[in-house]
This record gives sequence, C-alpha cells and structure tokens, in this order.
Amino acid sequence: MSGTGAAGGEVAVQITGLRKAFGPKTVLDGVDLEIRRGEFFALLGPSGTGKTTLLRILAGLERPDAGTVLAARRRTTVYQEPRLVQARRVLANVTLGLPRSSRGAGRRALAEVGLERHERAWPATLSGGEAQRAALARALVRDPQVLLLDEPFAALDALTRLQMQDLVGELCARHRPAVVLVTHDVDEALRLADRVAVLRDGVFAADRVIDLPRPRDRDDPATARYRRSFLSHLGVAAAAPH
Ligand SMILES: Nc1ncnc2c1ncn2[C@@H]1O[C@H](COP(=O)(O)OP(=O)(O)OP(=O)(O)O)[C@@H](O)[C@H]1O
Ligand SMILES: [Mg+2]
Repeated sequence: MSGTGAAGGEVAVQITGLRKAFGPKTVLDGVDLEIRRGEFFALLGPSGTGKTTLLRILAGLERPDAGTVLAARRRTTVYQEPRLVQARRVLANVTLGLPRSSRGAGRRALAEVGLERHERAWPATLSGGEAQRAALARALVRDPQVLLLDEPFAALDALTRLQMQDLVGELCARHRPAVVLVTHDVDEALRLADRVAVLRDGVFAADRVIDLPRPRDRDDPATARYRRSFLSHLGVAAAAPH
C-alpha cells in the first residue's frame, strides 16, 4: 500500500473497524489503527486482551471477522522465543528461505546485532540474548516495512533486556520500518515508542503520542506522568511515593 500523509512517512499499516471473535468471546471489537514508516508504536494490555491476535492478523496468520486491514507487503515478526532451527547454523537461520545470494546481507545483519563472530555457531550454543539477536538479524535481513515484535524481550534477564531495547531502538531508527511492539512493560514502551496504546475490552482505551526527548529518562517527571496514566488504564494503581 502507499499514500503519504501530513505526518511524513508513508502509511504502512491501516486498520479500520477490526473485529475478531473466538467462539462467543469477542477479542477485538472495532480497532482502528494507522502507523507510518518510521513510527514506533507500542501496545500494552492485560493478558488475554488480544494483543497477539492483533499481531497475527497483521502478519496475515489470522483472518479478521470484520473491518479492513491494509499493511505493507514486507512484514516480519520477532517473538518472545527466538524460534531458531536447531539443525542449521546461525547464518543459515538468518537467511532461511532466502536465495544463496543473500548470505552477504545475512552477514551484515549479524554484524548489526553484534553477532558477526557467531555466524557458524549452532543455535544451542548461543545464550538467550544472543539467540534473540539472531532472531532480530533474521528479521532485519528481510528489510521489513512492518516489524512486528511480540514481547521480544520478556524472556531476557533485566540487563540483557535493557541492552536489547537499546539495540532495537537504534536499528529501528536506522532502518525505519513501522514497528508494533507488544509488551507488558510500561517502562519499555516509554523508552522506545513514539506512540503507546492500551488494548482493553476489545478497543484502545488509550492511544497517545509520547512527547518526550530521546534518549528517554525514566526518572523524568513527564515520563512518570505518562507511566501513571498508562498504569491506571491497565487497571494497576501506581505505587504511592515513599
Ligand atoms: N486460535 C484461538 N482459538 C480460540 N481462542 C483463541 C485463539 N487465539 C487466541 N484466543 C483467545 O483470544 C484471547 C486473546 O488472546 P491473545 O493471545 O491475543 O492475548 P494477548 O493479549 O496476546 O495475551 P498475553 O498478554 O497473555 O500474551 C484469549 O482469551 C485467547 O484464549
Ligand atoms: Mg500475547
């Protein structure tokens, strides 16, 4: 799809009136969403509210019951688990399904995520963080117009998670896909996203542009105000000050 609006980048995702039910349970009940190339959109929401379902619809893995979903053609997803093929070396995983001529691009993608020395390693020998970097390289090499991230940092330890967040932030700023990051972590959303929405009861309970300079400071009072607002939309009371 194409079309350029006033805000700059071309529209990469356009969802209107999206509805999806599983049996009697309506998960998405009229979702509207537009994301442009270069825009980083984060989606928060309690467990079971339909975040993964929305990503799967965007990836083309699930059909909507109603509404229109338009998305740029090159889309790729990174999941919570790296999903590497154990019987293939790292570089072969990154270029899986691509022609042999893409090996150079695969090496460059591995270098971008800091794994250039691991191209011949077997997935089982990688740490959790390294395996997730390999998954990121596998996504990057496909030059996605739309990058779908389903809790990609959730299984990592706290320090690795922060490093990976910074890496994803840098890579997205450089390659400028439209990004949808699903996360349970309000601070992660506030560190990375241009816009944050909360999915609740089938609709976006909040959808706000995050007007904070980068790099983001989690201790900034303005960040704290966003955090309180999103936590209350999530139904979580922020901790009282000491
Ligand atoms: N294929 C399916 N068949 C039946 N029900 C489904 C199917 N896929 C999802 N659901 C249901 O739809 C709801 C939303 O699921 P989904 O995985 O999208 O939630 P989520 O917001 O990603 O949750 P979490 O934060 O726990 O990952 C859940 O109640 C789930 O059980
Ligand atoms: Mg999910």
